Order: sequence, then C-alpha cells, then structure tokens
Amino acid sequence: MKIFIDTANFDEIKAAYEMGFIAGVTTNPSLIVKEKRDLKEVIKQIAELVEGPVSAEVIATTAPEMIKEAHELVKLGSNVVIKVPMTEEGLKAVSVLSKEGIKTNVTLIFSVNQALLAARAGATFVSPFVGRIDDMSMDGITLIEDIAEVFMVHDIKAEIIAASVRTPMHMTQCAKAGAHIATVPYKVLTASMKHPLTDAGLARFLADWEAANK
Ligand code: E4P
Repeated sequence: MKIFIDTANFDEIKAAYEMGFIAGVTTNPSLIVKEKRDLKEVIKQIAELVEGPVSAEVIATTAPEMIKEAHELVKLGSNVVIKVPMTEEGLKAVSVLSKEGIKTNVTLIFSVNQALLAARAGATFVSPFVGRIDDMSMDGITLIEDIAEVFMVHDIKAEIIAASVRTPMHMTQCAKAGAHIATVPYKVLTASMKHPLTDAGLARFLADWEAANK
C-alpha cells in the first residue's frame, strides 16, 4: 500500500515528504479553505514539490463546468489529478476527462457499486471514505475489503485510495484490506511512526553508550 498525505498544508506536506514515504497528496475544498490561500496557488506549490499524483477537487456541480475547471487545474502541474464527486454529473465528467488522458479521482465513495461505476466510467482512482462510514456506526474497513475483492476478481485497474483515515489502526487495516493507497492526515502519520519501545530502546542505547564512553 502506498501512502499519500491528506492535507493542503504545505509545511505538513514538506515535512512528511522529506521523510521519503509520501507518494502523493490529496486535498479537498474543506482542506483548501482551512489554509486561507488561493486554491490554484496551493495546488501549484504542492505539485512542484511532490513527484506523485496531487488531487485537486473541482467545485462545479455540472459536467461541462467540471470539465472546464479540470482543464484549468491540470495546467498547474503534469501530476495534477482531478478529484470529482461521485454524482451523475461527476461520472459524465470522468468519462470525458479519461478519454482526454486526464487522470481522475472519484471521491465520496460509500458503496461497492459506486466504486465499480466510477472505475468503469474511467476513474484512475476511487476514494472510499473509511472514517465517515465508521461515524455512522458502520464498518469502513469492510467496504475497502469488498471493493478490493471486486476489483481483483474483475481485473479492474483503478486504484483504491482509502480516504477519511482517522487513526493509525485504520492505516494498518486499510493495508490488510487491500487498499492500493491510503491517504492519511499528518497527525495520523506522525502517530504511526511512534512506539514507546522505540523511544525506550533508543534511550537505553544512548545511555549505555554514554556510560561506556565517559
Ligand atoms: C480525501 O480524499 C478526503 O477528502 C478526506 O480523506 C476526508 O477525510 P475526513 O472524513 O476526515 O474529512
């Protein structure tokens, strides 16, 4: 499973990117708004830093407007992927964009059928939302497992981005469930790096070294 970072905050992206494990970035309108910066300026800056796919979401709700917006967004970098909501208009836009060779990420996926339809429309990536399903007292990880099984059985090439990842445990579960990618907030990534035995072990190594080299 590849790791993307789910944020529009450049400092977080840069800090995580320098650690070498980030293969891409996802943003959404809520994350962009938090930065209080121009959407195009943010996406351009991220796309220049990161080599992998950078998802930028359209704001439009009709296919022609989404396509127009997508054509503007892809000018910001050759690695920009157009994030489109899982709606009828969204699928029409994905169908046109994929025929033009523009990569798309269909977002707000909450069922296997939505994932299947998005993939068949030509999506490069599909983004099922684990945490938001868990919020409804349902099981987001089961959805990842089911989509992964269906895509494998039918040899579907679209990649599954497990989104709405809220905890380090989600990250492990998404990897086990067959997600190709998990897009993870910075604070979940940093929490995932830590283990008390790592800290204790390092403290012991350094203390032993210092004691022997006084
Ligand atoms: C990423 O593609 C999604 O927009 C994001 O993961 C949503 O996460 P949230 O449910 O924690 O807002």
